Amino acid sequence: MTEWFKKWFSSNEYLSVYSHRNEDDAKNIINLILGKIPEKDNLSILDAACGAGRHSILLAGLGHNVTAFDLSKTLLKIGKVNASELRKPVNFVCSDIRNVAFNTSFDLVLNMFTSFGYFDTDEENFMFYKDIKNCLNKKGIIVLDYLNEYYLRRNLVPVSVKTISGRQIEESRSIRNNKVVKDIVIRHNGAIHKFCESVKLYTYESLVKNFEVLGYHVETAIGDYKGRVFDKETSKRVILFLTI
Ligand SMILES: C[S@@+](CC[C@H](N)C(=O)[O-])C[C@H]1O[C@@H](n2cnc3c(N)ncnc32)[C@H](O)[C@@H]1O
Repeated sequence: MTEWFKKWFSSNEYLSVYSHRNEDDAKNIINLILGKIPEKDNLSILDAACGAGRHSILLAGLGHNVTAFDLSKTLLKIGKVNASELRKPVNFVCSDIRNVAFNTSFDLVLNMFTSFGYFDTDEENFMFYKDIKNCLNKKGIIVLDYLNEYYLRRNLVPVSVKTISGRQIEESRSIRNNKVVKDIVIRHNGAIHKFCESVKLYTYESLVKNFEVLGYHVETAIGDYKGRVFDKETSKRVILFLTI
């Protein structure tokens, strides 16, 4: 499967399928993250694979200095429109996560809502974490918000159908070659659109191991946007706070 993410996240359909991943959802996790950070004012923040910038916009609204990058020009364009009223702008950049270069350093780096595991090799999936280490301030924190592989394997919903804004959205999920694959069929105004998502599965243990090899320390692991401690059996998410 090659570069599925280019088509899916450039489509006008992605934001409808994930309409529940909205500003309120972003507020929950941002409050949680900021609550765990000792320094609170004027942070220098990088939002990696920011999408339409829902986290970045909230953070810039709180007065932080935010750089946000994504590969999808479609989502960046929406982000720029949504951020246009802010007093402090978001610095939106189009970049591939496998090839980032910043000449500034950050207090906080975010990689939110399963924007990780899109590539076939571990080398590519962890490349960003290898590169961004050099741009992290001494007490800087990286937050990875990823799925809990253990929970997902045991609770996979094979098929679900929902209707949003007149679109009938059918999502079929399976696990193939250690990846969770979602086939998405959208019926709208007589047309049928097909997309695919494919995310490589990493256990909690393998994530921790890979990050430790890269020189990170896992400060905290939480399991949902309410801040509950990560529990392998019951948590839907793995939200890691990494330091160097
Ligand atoms: C599930 S979305 C999450 C977006 C955002 N973090 C949020 O929470 O709304 C995944 C994002 O990763 C971006 N993405 C996918 N592949 C990428 C790549 N190779 N480089 C940079 N961004 C990429 C997509 O364009 C999309 O915006």
